[in-house]
Amino acid sequence: MTSVGWRARPRRLQVWARGDGTARPTRRGRRRYHSAVPTHPDHPTLHVSDHPAVLHKLALLRDVTTEHKKFRELVREISWLVGYEALADARLAPVTVRTPLEETEGRRLADRIGLVPILRAGLGMVDAMLELMPTAQVWHLGLFRDERTLRPVEYYNKLPDHATVDVCLILDPMLATGGSATAAIDVLKDWGATRIKLVNLIAAPEGVNAVVKAHPDVSIHVAALDRGLNEKGYIMPGLGDAGDRQFGTGHS
Ligand code: PRP
Ligand code: URA
Repeated sequence: MTSVGWRARPRRLQVWARGDGTARPTRRGRRRYHSAVPTHPDHPTLHVSDHPAVLHKLALLRDVTTEHKKFRELVREISWLVGYEALADARLAPVTVRTPLEETEGRRLADRIGLVPILRAGLGMVDAMLELMPTAQVWHLGLFRDERTLRPVEYYNKLPDHATVDVCLILDPMLATGGSATAAIDVLKDWGATRIKLVNLIAAPEGVNAVVKAHPDVSIHVAALDRGLNEKGYIMPGLGDAGDRQFGTGHS
């Protein structure tokens, strides 16, 4: 396995679907959609957004002078954009609809989507994802990172006995050491989830490598891949503490 490092992103967007962005029918008659976001050159499961709207909002999000209200708005807006990209391969089923003029064939979402925000910072990503996928179920997982050991501590889990969704999207703005994400994926796999995606705003190479090593089947969708972690486990250049900046707590 190749380690993921911080490097300049490819400048041109690569699109594997047809040029107009539509899907190619497969032999079985089902359509397979391809993400418009290319995977990172070092690893096939990492998608780093290159969208100008994402990059513009990301600079505002990182800015230390961005106050809490604006910060929350930006978390929501970037989550929408990255979440949209992450859901590009959701499965569809045909549906017949009647327009005012005639009947036509449309598509409806066939996958049951589960959103799993990691408390507390992941909460800020939920509304955007529910706008995108209004029928999604939301299952909360409470994990915090022990400041001394940097290991995740689980404090809230109300998942029912068996998985009730087809695809789980884990929502957490930060992927630092990868401890929290790896633990969340372990919990979801024990629950019976088979298709899991990790949606983050900012990731460190250390966190990506940890998730890829433990869970090579999980795709990771991020707005940015940063340089690395500092001695306290914070992502550099990062944005500071994502929970504190959203909720006005702490000193960052
Ligand atoms: C942050 C963040 C992730 C975790 C990432 O949460 O939201 O859950 O740290 O770090 P890791 O990749 O090293 O595990 P934090 O523990 O600060 O809790 P909070 O959301 O309650 O602020
Ligand atoms: N959690 C955060 O909120 N920020 C970091 O940089 C790392 C972990």
